[in-house]
Amino acid sequence: MPKTLKIGIIGSGGIAVSCHMPGYASMPELCEMVAVCDIAKEAAEAAAKKFDVAKVTTDYRELLADPEIDAVSITTPNAFHKQPTIDALRAGKHVLCEKPLAMNAAEAKEMCRAAKEAGKILQVALQTRFGGPARFVKTFIDNGNMGPIYYARAKALRRRGVPHWGVFIDKEKQGGGPLIDIGVHILDLTLFFMGYPKPVSATGKTWDILAKDKTVKNFWGDFDRDRFTVEDFAVGLIRFEDGSVVTLESSFMANMEGDPFETQLFGTKAGAIVRAWGDNPVSIYKEIDGQYFDLSPQNLPRVESSHVAEVQAFVDAILGGKPSPVPGENGLVLNAIFDALYRSSETGKEEVVDVSL
Ligand SMILES: NC(=O)c1ccc[n+]([C@@H]2O[C@H](COP(=O)([O-])OP(=O)(O)OC[C@H]3O[C@@H](n4cnc5c(N)ncnc54)[C@H](O)[C@@H]3O)[C@@H](O)[C@H]2O)c1
Repeated sequence: MPKTLKIGIIGSGGIAVSCHMPGYASMPELCEMVAVCDIAKEAAEAAAKKFDVAKVTTDYRELLADPEIDAVSITTPNAFHKQPTIDALRAGKHVLCEKPLAMNAAEAKEMCRAAKEAGKILQVALQTRFGGPARFVKTFIDNGNMGPIYYARAKALRRRGVPHWGVFIDKEKQGGGPLIDIGVHILDLTLFFMGYPKPVSATGKTWDILAKDKTVKNFWGDFDRDRFTVEDFAVGLIRFEDGSVVTLESSFMANMEGDPFETQLFGTKAGAIVRAWGDNPVSIYKEIDGQYFDLSPQNLPRVESSHVAEVQAFVDAILGGKPSPVPGENGLVLNAIFDALYRSSETGKEEVVDVSL
């Protein structure tokens, strides 16, 4: 009988309890959660109780010192991704680290190097690409149906959706605002469809006007405007080595219709829109025999939870000796683009995107 993987959880808050732990719990024949860590003891104890995990600690180093543990989920706030990830890799554990990989590209590079040196899997928790619509569109593109994608418009926009809990409005702990928090998902999905071309430069602009205005209501509940140190809206244009371009818009607050979370792909043979919500997640725009067709695929693959699917892909890669399903280098590309966009907003100029390791 093959070995059952032993798993540790570092950071047992929202995403750990609602997504990572259910993911591991869905495969009792392949893996077993054996330890939970959180600096808040009650959080660790509650998570351990819910999923019947024996060991609880408030010090992640203690968890990593356990030779029985093969792999860990790093589900701490962004400012606490880098060190536990590097320490885990050096301790010989595979790592599934929450998104964004790091606060910035410098941190992401250190993490990627540590994974390379250790010869262990570093997977970034970017689950959108594991969903049914994403799986279909990726195969559709890879089968040559769209031709090369030379332009994409990525949007992760909320009209009034500032998260008032956790550390989402604190630049020191989060690294940025909507760009780094939700823009990361739609940009990853877009680049995944495009085959992750190498970015070379980016220009962008961020604002914090609405969030700083105490008269502007937040539908998700009020938050401390004086502690709001991230952007509420960001726009960017990113150039890639192969000549393709992506524009990205991301907001926690904007005066606009709805909350679009979608990417629009412009290929030489067809175009597509992939939406995260609604009844019509994929639309394809194609010319056939001189007619323009708007196509809606009707039997997209069903994936109950993309979060659970991402955890299953992590375990499958470890057991099968496969490469990381979402390599750390993809996380580095995203962090490097965000760095350039934030810099560009300050300088007013196009900035280099440096993804060298
Ligand atoms: N993939 C997604 O769609 C998604 C959704 C939500 C959050 N996230 C990501 O998950 C991460 C955590 O977010 P969350 O919403 O679960 O936050 P959370 O605040 O609910 O949980 C984080 C937990 O980490 C603990 N913690 C902090 N520092 C620690 C340390 N050094 N060692 C051990 N524990 C520590 C905190 O006490 C807390 O319980 C963030 O990086 C966030 O971007 C991803």
